[in-house]
Amino acid sequence: MVWAGVVAHYRAFLPVSDRTPIVTLQEGWTPLLEAPRLAEAVGEGLRVFLKCEGFNPTGSFKDRGMTLAISKALEAGSRAVLCASTGNTSASAAAYAARAGLRAFVLVPKGAVAIGKLSQALIHGASVLMLEGGFDAALAIVKAIAETRPVTLVNSINPYRLDGQKTAAYEVVDQLGQAPDYHLIPVGNAGNITAYWRGYQEYHRAGRAAGLPRMVGFQAAGAAPIVENRVIPEPKTVATAIRIGNPANWQAAVAAVRESQGWVQAVTDEEILQAYRHLAREEGVFVEPASAAAAAGLLKAGKEGRFEPGATLVLTLTGHGLKDPESALGAATRPPTVPATLEAVLAAMGL
Ligand code: F0G
Repeated sequence: MVWAGVVAHYRAFLPVSDRTPIVTLQEGWTPLLEAPRLAEAVGEGLRVFLKCEGFNPTGSFKDRGMTLAISKALEAGSRAVLCASTGNTSASAAAYAARAGLRAFVLVPKGAVAIGKLSQALIHGASVLMLEGGFDAALAIVKAIAETRPVTLVNSINPYRLDGQKTAAYEVVDQLGQAPDYHLIPVGNAGNITAYWRGYQEYHRAGRAAGLPRMVGFQAAGAAPIVENRVIPEPKTVATAIRIGNPANWQAAVAAVRESQGWVQAVTDEEILQAYRHLAREEGVFVEPASAAAAAGLLKAGKEGRFEPGATLVLTLTGHGLKDPESALGAATRPPTVPATLEAVLAAMGL
């Protein structure tokens, strides 16, 4: 199969025509990897699969929405795009804008963006500003700018973003041969859970999938507005990607959870970091902390007996671990320095 990206592959389900110039980095068709050790840790004969979205061109799921948002911006004659971001959206917007020959403006919370993501936005040539404020303030500002200036907003309030992100649900069904019983996913600005649910429903209506999953979202305990049903003015969590106190797609996410008979739950930073290490050490999959929230949620909800025995679960692992090397170094023990002799190295290795 020649893979030409999600828009080409799922064209029939997307709002494109012959006049749409498709801007792609051949995103999508990411691995759906079985995770036997994670399943074993929960028990109950569960089957657990990881949708590894870190394998996308810029290392996160954002590329699925960005290919479509940038293509449609180009079709509409836009010359520049704009976003607020906790990092991944800005990395993806910068790369696809570069590919399209558009300018990209990015507003990120100062000191709260992982180093890999910031370096991506910069090397792709985006105009990056560090805001003295959090993501929620940044989003409010870029929304106001887009109302009066000739720039296209590419945050997930741009409907093409979620249209593109829906393709992940189509892929899960195509790879698994059916919809899973549960789909577990981290929730920040609440766009992705909304997109998956729409994707599963559309595939179901089109006769491509017999069933529908329950959508289960996980927020970090210090940044859990949907769980607590209130805006969190100063969200806090090690998972900087989902450090959001007032999600843009809040109501749509609540609807997705209600309609699918799922739920939203909080996981602590400690649980997130434990799952982060578990995925890396037991499954060989390196994700960023926000992505580990889904695995932390699996372990927590599993212990609570929320999944019936034998159920099939898919977890979206939203971003690659290399995005945030500082978190990895912080979660592991520092390697000791040794003299350059065979004896010293053998002694230090305990061999
Ligand atoms: N995981 C990662 C790695 C993310 O970057 C994000 C969101 C999410 C999960 C949550 O997805 O917002 O659709 O609920 N990152 C955005 C950004 C906010 O700016 O990169 P969501």
